[in-house]
Amino acid sequence: MKKLFFTHLAALIVLHTGQSVFAQEKAPRFGKDPVKDIVKKMTLEEKVKVLVGKGYNFQGMPSNDRSPDKIPNIAGHTLAIPRFGIPSISLADGPNGLHKPLTKQDSTNNLYSTAWPVGTLLASSWDTALVKRVGVAFGGEIKAYGIDFILAPGVNIQRNPLNGRNYEYFSEDPLVSGSMAAAMINGIQSQGVGATIKHFAANNEETNRRSVNVIVSERALREIYLRNFEIGIKNSHPWAVMSSYNLLNGTYTSESHDLLTSILREDWGYKGFVMSDWFGGQDAVAQMNAGNNLIMPGMPAQVAAITEAVKSGKISEEQLDKNVEEILNVTSHTLTAKGYDYPNKTDLKALAQLSREAAAQSMVLLKNNGNTLPLRNGGASIALFGNHGYDLLVAGMVSGDVNKPYAVSLAEGLANAGYKVDNGLALTYKNYVSDYAAKHPKKPIRQEMANPTPPAPEYQPGEAIITSKADSLDMAIIYIGRNAGESRDRKVADDYELTSAEKDMITGISNAFHAKHKPVIAILNIAGVTDVTAFRDKVDAILLAWEPGEEGGNAIADVLSGKVNPSGKLAQTFPMAYNDLSSAKNFPGKELPGPATTSIVGRAVPAEVTYQEGIYVGYRYFNTFKVKPAYEFGYGLTYTKFTYSKLTLSSMSFNTKLTVKVTITNSGSVAGKEVAELYLGAPHKSMDKPSEELKAFAKTRLLKPGESQILTFFLDAKALASFDTAQSAWVADAGEYHVKIGASSEDIKLEKAFKLGKSITVEKDHKALAPQVSIDELKGTN
Ligand code: BGC
Repeated sequence: MKKLFFTHLAALIVLHTGQSVFAQEKAPRFGKDPVKDIVKKMTLEEKVKVLVGKGYNFQGMPSNDRSPDKIPNIAGHTLAIPRFGIPSISLADGPNGLHKPLTKQDSTNNLYSTAWPVGTLLASSWDTALVKRVGVAFGGEIKAYGIDFILAPGVNIQRNPLNGRNYEYFSEDPLVSGSMAAAMINGIQSQGVGATIKHFAANNEETNRRSVNVIVSERALREIYLRNFEIGIKNSHPWAVMSSYNLLNGTYTSESHDLLTSILREDWGYKGFVMSDWFGGQDAVAQMNAGNNLIMPGMPAQVAAITEAVKSGKISEEQLDKNVEEILNVTSHTLTAKGYDYPNKTDLKALAQLSREAAAQSMVLLKNNGNTLPLRNGGASIALFGNHGYDLLVAGMVSGDVNKPYAVSLAEGLANAGYKVDNGLALTYKNYVSDYAAKHPKKPIRQEMANPTPPAPEYQPGEAIITSKADSLDMAIIYIGRNAGESRDRKVADDYELTSAEKDMITGISNAFHAKHKPVIAILNIAGVTDVTAFRDKVDAILLAWEPGEEGGNAIADVLSGKVNPSGKLAQTFPMAYNDLSSAKNFPGKELPGPATTSIVGRAVPAEVTYQEGIYVGYRYFNTFKVKPAYEFGYGLTYTKFTYSKLTLSSMSFNTKLTVKVTITNSGSVAGKEVAELYLGAPHKSMDKPSEELKAFAKTRLLKPGESQILTFFLDAKALASFDTAQSAWVADAGEYHVKIGASSEDIKLEKAFKLGKSITVEKDHKALAPQVSIDELKGTN
């Protein structure tokens, strides 16, 4: 009887609402019932809603749903499915802090977020504990603003200095990149929000980024361009991975089953989900079959294509359900799914302190002749030259940009620290910079991407002014700025290299101040490696600040004054000349015949680039081929001195693991921290090997003069192994291995050998991503 009543009632409701009441009553609830049960009850239409994002809500852009976004102005949202209680999830850029103005729907407030030091600067700390602390604070801010996923960190290898997005990335080395990514992700995710490691993989240039086919050997992929992701992912389990725009050995990464399933899921055991880069790839069906679960930002054509492909069997029910489940499993952990009522405010002041500390702890002192630094005279008068000394470059452009509350210039930072920055120069520069800005008003991002505003040419102070400042002031600081950003690469002339105006300015200042025996200091506020050879002999000290976040000026002043003893080291090589780089002749590759396409994310012409240098990227090339760099990987000075002693290995022959210990002593006169780097030289029996590769690193605590600390490193079998393409396996050759403990990749302090009795096949992987053409790859000399 009861049953009959309900059946009738249900029929009535179906008549009125078009939807079965049983579907409503029986629908399992997201967050309560197992995801598998929900997926079983979903219609095809509902499943596809999980797989394709909500889309953008502006004119001319086809969208999947034009209802207001939960959080306006951020990069994207997924679609809600109210029947099961599945909410719309919010995703926001980017690696250096929250990118866009964040507003609650009912408010017009512009909500600021903290600008952290960029990835390249954080990596120069070589301090994973510090990076994790930044991650925790960053994650707290992401949570406070109601964001579920941050589209960060960016972990791509800095293959070439001209890549416009290098500042978002960490290093030329996969171990440094992967370790920094893991530290950041562990920090962010400790707050209950998701990190998205990106851009998977081999997205190492912005020229034709959506169409370039990267041709690279399986070995270089496994050891360099995937290893960074492998280390990052295995050590932090990011909730999401973002596939990249480029093609990899002939297939879009978002459409590559080899990459997203065979390698990521099967070889590495990844359990989260993969989202596409925004408008990345071409074929939604291929993306689904490859294991690219979520297509962002989402368009109706993709919904139609997937729906049709499921109906026609081009996408199996099994693949469809797997893709949906993987997204929903992660989504169920989000704060939105848990109903978290976010405060929409954050403690900007406290976070700024950490941003300042992290920046100062990471800067790299490149030169310090005659102990020019730290500045001993507290209230010294300073002639600060260079546009950006008054206009800090906080972070690079587009998705790495941050909606920051303010930016402290070096002029302000020096004044805050009690130095007298010359007023006359300050006024002239500030007027020059603000006039230029007024004449070049900020354009919306899309217009800026298509037609970038050129940076203000360097102001030329003129000889008379320079001479008078050299007469009256204590010292000169020359500030060199370089910005870069998404969707375009840098150029060699007037960007990687200094402009002639910059060179003239430096020469004039150097001559005038040195004639009066007054020091000249250079500060580099740059988004990527820039030539230093044109000016390094003309200045007494050089401090590399990269792009230091909103507190940059204060952080630079902390290092100049000696409040912070610099302890950063280079996570990339500074070459003597651009053409010394192993990738120089293959960057950014060549354009191919074929039609250009233009979309919201830029113009694309069919193109390809061959990574002929193979595994010889960065210091692996410079060291093995004995090419002298200007400043080598791992290099950085300090205001004190460190001695290295007592290198011990747990065994002289390798079994399954080896422990290495070294004692670091502060033998100078001020407190400081030291980064010690463990390089391994491997026998090259079956395979070509770099002369040495970084396998571990550690940083001491702040050591007082005379104080020592023992640093411990671990080597497992994979650290000894190289990727043998013929076997698709990581193989450690039998023979003698050399542990080299260095203060840099060239400055090896202690060395000891151990033996591996028998070759080991450490790990067998899928045969995947083989190039379709043969590559005339660089081979080592040994
Ligand atoms: C960028 C991504 C970014 C996404 C969303 C893309 O153009 O490559 O890094 O997360 O846009 O803004």
